Amino acid sequence: MALIRDVLSRGAFILQKDLEEFESNLKSFQNVKHAFGVADGTNALILALRAAGVGTGHEVIVCSHTYVATAASVHFVGATPVLVECGYDHMIEPKAVEQAVTRRTRAIMPTQLNGRTADMEALQRIADRNGLVIIEDAAQALGSRYKGKHAGTFGLAGTFSFYPAKLLGCFGDGGAVVTNDDQIAEKIYLFRDHGRNKDGEVVTWGTNCRLDNLQAAVLNWKLKTFEKEIVRRREIASAYHNALKDIEDIVLPPPPMKDSDHFDVYQNYELESSRRDELKSYLAEQGIGTIIQWGGKAVHQLKGLGFEKVRLPATEKMTSRFLMLPMHTALTDQDVDYICQTIQRFYD
Ligand SMILES: Cc1ncc(COP(=O)(O)O)c(C=O)c1O
Repeated sequence: MALIRDVLSRGAFILQKDLEEFESNLKSFQNVKHAFGVADGTNALILALRAAGVGTGHEVIVCSHTYVATAASVHFVGATPVLVECGYDHMIEPKAVEQAVTRRTRAIMPTQLNGRTADMEALQRIADRNGLVIIEDAAQALGSRYKGKHAGTFGLAGTFSFYPAKLLGCFGDGGAVVTNDDQIAEKIYLFRDHGRNKDGEVVTWGTNCRLDNLQAAVLNWKLKTFEKEIVRRREIASAYHNALKDIEDIVLPPPPMKDSDHFDVYQNYELESSRRDELKSYLAEQGIGTIIQWGGKAVHQLKGLGFEKVRLPATEKMTSRFLMLPMHTALTDQDVDYICQTIQRFYD
């Protein structure tokens, strides 16, 4: 409240110092050259695609197990989202990406899902071979790393969401675009504020897509404890893994491992179960809330978006099995034990 009162008393609402500070902190955290706070994660994607020159007549390859926003952003710049399968770790499957490339493909847009970063080397090889750019939807992956490098910093641009339930959540909507490319950075800077340059002159078409200064102040404050929160999320994921790994019916996400190429931050803990709906009801009866991400539908399974002819058997099988266990830093060790024991009891 003191922080919010301070922002209000300064009347600092739009493009003020809290936003500049947050952008600078985000750059350091990500080890990236440019960071821009924007309105939300969906608009972050639209801005990144526009800045990369993706538009009418282009195709963009997207994993179907993602939030509809990933595909919608492609649609709203006038391009066509081409939906592909996810692999064993629920991330975009590089082999499926390779097969989906056509003469129209302009970009690959992996979703860094559930706090994990995709196999970026495999994706980069496909992009290089075919002259494509990569734009990362890292809405769910702030702090996640692959081979030591942060999600969001592999491609031409990476985007984040600060929706309240995200790893780093603000008190409303918020998002960011990061890039190491100076030209992309210049375009994002202009597009997010009506095409206005540093002198306030309009020099190109732009829109209003700014992160509120009040939200930036909240994010700055929460960023201070963010690393500790990641440690806690990884502890919870390890506890789930150790307690549940021997249950035959359950397929768990990869556990946190010291020597792995992947440093996962567990935005979500998404497992697979052949008795998913039964398990969900049983846990609810015992006071444990679980979520089926996006209602158990991959994007190509959503009605009315024009994907009626798309068949992705591996993804369709998984979406009927996915279930997310509670994953947030307010969980105590006792909570986690209770959740694990309840799942064990269900299977006994
Ligand atoms: C994978 C993914 N992409 C994009 C978004 C969109 O972010 P926002 O809700 O901030 O627009 C989300 C957030 O829900 C997401 O999970």
